[in-house]
Amino acid sequence: MDGNGRWATERHLPRNSGHKEGVKTMIRIASACNDRALPYVSFYAFSTENKYRPASEVKGLISLMSRMDEVADELVKRNIKLNVMGEISYFDEKIQAVIRDSVARTSSLTGGVVNIGLNYGGRDEILRAADMYRSCLGKQPFGDFLYTAGQPDPDILIRTGGEMRLSNFMLYQLAYTELFFTETYWPDFSEEELDAIIREYYKRDRRFGK
Ligand code: IPE
Ligand code: MG
Repeated sequence: MDGNGRWATERHLPRNSGHKEGVKTMIRIASACNDRALPYVSFYAFSTENKYRPASEVKGLISLMSRMDEVADELVKRNIKLNVMGEISYFDEKIQAVIRDSVARTSSLTGGVVNIGLNYGGRDEILRAADMYRSCLGKQPFGDFLYTAGQPDPDILIRTGGEMRLSNFMLYQLAYTELFFTETYWPDFSEEELDAIIREYYKRDRRFGK
């Protein structure tokens, strides 16, 4: 979800109001995916590197996480389970409690999964999984120890905001994912553009290296 800061700056607004708008877009696009019967959607909200941004921006981003209960309200309405990817012990106890409650409220829902990366890094995820994999002496598949355990690998990756890199997102899972990059800033990302990408996806020939 890239481009929140530039979206705000172009409107002479503080960067954090771009992040606030970005949360609305996240809820809107999660709902759009559910309307289109896409059962798994993942959002990269806060990376392991984002905490090194200026303190005022980090504070703003973290305070938005206290609105996770609003995200959960929408997911509950739609029977979608919330799965948080990342090391949330980094956040203060109050934020952790909101995140844990939101996850708990949706834990038995069966109509789809929304993954949200909070203090998430693909390399961290792989190292953490490798530790657990070693402890189980290889008796369970490696994927069982990723935050996405039990989920299929993503078919589509969309990065908004014009940069063409992965920035440490789902490095293990994206091995054969189809990549899409758009100049659109995340707050402006629309259902129409989502549909255009899905149409484009169906034109691609996926051979998985075979
Ligand atoms: C949102 O966009 C990504 C987050 C870390 C939440 P940015 O904050 O990277 O926006 P730009 O790239 O400065 O426009
Ligand atoms: Mg950016």
